[in-house]
Amino acid sequence: MRVLFIGDVVGKPGRRALRQWLSQLKEEFSPDLVIANVENAAGGFGLTKDVYNELLSLGVDVMTSGNHIWDKKEFVKEMDSFTQVLRPANYPEGVPGRGWLLTHVGETPVAVINLQGRIFMECLDCPFRTADALLKVIGDGVKVRIVDFHAEATAEKSLLAFYLTGRVSAVLGTHTHVQTADERVLDNFTGFITDVGMTGALNSSIGMEFKDVLDRMIYHIPRKFKVAKGPVMLNGVVLDIDEESGKCLKIERLFLREEGQGNGNQDTLW
Ligand SMILES: [Fe+2]
Ligand SMILES: [Fe+2]
Repeated sequence: MRVLFIGDVVGKPGRRALRQWLSQLKEEFSPDLVIANVENAAGGFGLTKDVYNELLSLGVDVMTSGNHIWDKKEFVKEMDSFTQVLRPANYPEGVPGRGWLLTHVGETPVAVINLQGRIFMECLDCPFRTADALLKVIGDGVKVRIVDFHAEATAEKSLLAFYLTGRVSAVLGTHTHVQTADERVLDNFTGFITDVGMTGALNSSIGMEFKDVLDRMIYHIPRKFKVAKGPVMLNGVVLDIDEESGKCLKIERLFLREEGQGNGNQDTLW
């Protein structure tokens, strides 16, 4: 089977990139399953019911997320009713939502698992032990297992991939919004990339307008970040997975970008 995984969708520009390219990618690659990380899809922070429905209608089958999924209170309250979206599984017991789900491609069951790292991030439950526990629950009957590891530190990401090699079809890093060029299949089994990247404004500070980020960096003044405007990009990977064994046969990196340099962020600081 073929899986298309799309890196963190950031605000309107990210959704515009999906609208612009997803049907084209579907034609070119014929994926059986489309997964996207959506933690920044609504205004750069979290998700709303409307955006969730919009993403489904654009052709996203399963949504993963991360630390920003909690940013919109209304959504969090209702999270349990949105069956296609995940939050990292290693949040403490009692938080809403689900950390993994089972879907099907034809007759073949596919487990999608969401985990979050702990280095330079919230101190959550151990992602390694959480993965062990989840794989036990998921069971040997489900061969195709895809992990979104939402983490900051490259070392932690490669470690989890190494730890799960041979036990999952893919470990795909998200969260940094910067695509890495290290995609490969580990031990002829597990597709891995440190970070899939971002789908949103190309000329931006990881999706946000430069000005407010710069104020915060230089003056250490609290600033609310705004989603950047201008040309967009789409980052993703395509995985070919053997349904019988769960082995990843191939991982291919995608980086689509619009032409143009304008970023609409040329105001002076003050
Ligand atoms: Fe993100
Ligand atoms: Fe994140």
